[in-house]
Amino acid sequence: MRDGKDPDMTTEFTTRITDAVVDSLDGTADPRLRELLASLTRHLHAFVRETEPTMAEWEKAVDFLTTTGQTCTDTRQEFVLLSDVLGVSMLVETINSDRDGGATESTVLGPFHMTESPARVLGADIDLAGGGEPCVVSGRVLSRDGTPLPGAVLDVWQANAEGFYDVQQPDVQPPGNGRGLFTADAEGRFWFRTCVPSPYPIPTDGPVGDLLRATGREPYRPAHIHFIASAPGHVPVTTHIFVAGSDHLDSDAVFAVKESLVQDFADTDDPALAREFGIPNPFRHARFDLVLTPERT
Ligand code: BEZ
Ligand code: FE
Repeated sequence: MRDGKDPDMTTEFTTRITDAVVDSLDGTADPRLRELLASLTRHLHAFVRETEPTMAEWEKAVDFLTTTGQTCTDTRQEFVLLSDVLGVSMLVETINSDRDGGATESTVLGPFHMTESPARVLGADIDLAGGGEPCVVSGRVLSRDGTPLPGAVLDVWQANAEGFYDVQQPDVQPPGNGRGLFTADAEGRFWFRTCVPSPYPIPTDGPVGDLLRATGREPYRPAHIHFIASAPGHVPVTTHIFVAGSDHLDSDAVFAVKESLVQDFADTDDPALAREFGIPNPFRHARFDLVLTPERT
């Protein structure tokens, strides 16, 4: 408590403000919205009471949020990035994921799923620009009891071998580079070609970068490929596979690594298989199944 004030009176007054704001929400028609806003009010007010920001600090906080909003564009989502680096995205994702176990674990969506992935045929190469280490990703989409899910849809996106998404380099990469929308075959199988992704730093030229620098944090994410898998009658999963052995697996800037999502991108020397996939031999091969939970009826 700051000097020169009666602590009891200040506490009583600030508690009255909190109660008044919470009471003012009584007319909210949607009960869930009322619950969320009332809880947010109580937690925010408790934070202010605990940390007692100065007016200058509060103005700085407002400026920070203002700049965060102003940094957002059609191809950049600085608020998602802020939620990611504060671990909030990962909390929300985990709270909403399959709690019974057995399905593929979820992880953050991230800020780069902001453009529609182009539909591609199974086996297509999403590394449109070439130049990266050739790789095949293959597997099946299954229901939790092991039943294949024909026609499951996989939305895939990744950074190029230099660690940039197409939307970050519109003058360098063709639109849709590193992206594809695939439909699993009659046995729930999928396969596509790409390049082995690299670790990369999240964007640091905006307010989130300032936050990382002010806190001495590193911006790096381990190498990964993003997926959203969906199938009729099943809960979709938003996830990644991480490249086993990648740098930063234990220091992801957005806290998104789960052990079960780390996959071997195995060195493969198999000319017959390479011919089947239409890829130069030798190549790297990541094989894994995506498992979805049936919707509750
Ligand atoms: C991504 O993996 O695309 C990502 C996730 C969170 C923050 C920044 C990037
Ligand atoms: Fe990513």
